[in-house]
Amino acid sequence: MTEAELYSVYKGVYVPKLLHPPECLKYYEEFNFREDDILIAAYPKSGTTWMKEIVPLIQSEGDLTPVQTIPNWDRVPWLEENRASILNLEERPSPRIFATHFHYNMMPESFFKVKPKVLCVLRNPKDVFVSSFYYYVMFGSWFDHVKGWIHAKHQENILYIFYEEMIMDLKESVRKLSSFLGKSLGEELIEKISDHCVFKNMKQNQMSNYSLVPAEFLDQNKSEFLRKGISGDWRNTLTTAQSDHFDSVYEEKMKDVKFPFLWA
Ligand code: A3P
Repeated sequence: MTEAELYSVYKGVYVPKLLHPPECLKYYEEFNFREDDILIAAYPKSGTTWMKEIVPLIQSEGDLTPVQTIPNWDRVPWLEENRASILNLEERPSPRIFATHFHYNMMPESFFKVKPKVLCVLRNPKDVFVSSFYYYVMFGSWFDHVKGWIHAKHQENILYIFYEEMIMDLKESVRKLSSFLGKSLGEELIEKISDHCVFKNMKQNQMSNYSLVPAEFLDQNKSEFLRKGISGDWRNTLTTAQSDHFDSVYEEKMKDVKFPFLWA
C-alpha cells in the first residue's frame, strides 16, 4: 500500500486512514462533551493503556468486572476512532471515560465550551521514542502534542500526570487521580487497584493486553504491546551519540517552555 492509501492528514497531522475515515472524523468533530466526562489525553506510547485500566477501576471503586469483561478499546474508547461512532456513547451514563491521541488544537468545538476533566499523561520522550520504535510513529510530533496540551487555555479541569511518577509510586498516583476525579477511596481499594494495574499483573489481562486483536492488525510476535513497562529504557537502546543528538533537538524545541517535566 502507498502512504496516501495508509494515511490521511487531519489538521496537519498524519493519521491512519483505516482508523479515522472521514465519517468518523465528522462524528468526532460534532461530538458533544459533558462537563463530567473524563478524557485521557496522551501521545501514543506514553501510558494511555495503563490509564485505561486505572481510571475505570477508580470509578468502579475497585470492582474488577469492567476491566475483566470489556476490552479496553470499548471500555475507554478513543473518541477519534471509527468505533466511537457505533458505541452509542450518547447513551452511556456519566461519568463517561474516553481517550484521545489527538493534539490540543485538534479537539472538537464542544471540548472548549464544556471543559470536561482531562488526565494528560506525559512520558520522557526518549522512552516514548524507544517504545514507538518497537511499534510505530504516527499522530504528529511529540513536541507539538505536548506543547499544545501543557499550554491549554483552561487548566483548572486538567491533571498533568507523568508516566515516571506512576512507575515510581503507583499507589500515590492512584490516590492523586482519585482525588482529582472526586472519588474518596480507602487505602484498601487504592492498594487493590494499584496491585491490579502493576505491569506484570495488567499484562495478564486479556481485555487490556491487546491479545484479542488479530495479528494482521497487531502482530505481537514482533513486539508485545505491553512490552517492558519501565522508565529509562532509552539507556539500553540509544547510543551516547544518539542520546546527545536527541538532547540537542529537545533543547532547541523546548527552549521557551517552562514546565516542571520530571525528566528535565
Ligand atoms: P513500553 O513499550 O516502554 O513497555 P500507550 O498505551 O500510551 O501506547 O503506551 C504504551 C506503553 O505503556 C508501553 O511501554 C507499555 O508497556 C506501557 N504500559 C502499559 N501498561 C503499563 C503498566 N501497567 N505499567 C507500566 N507500563 C505500562
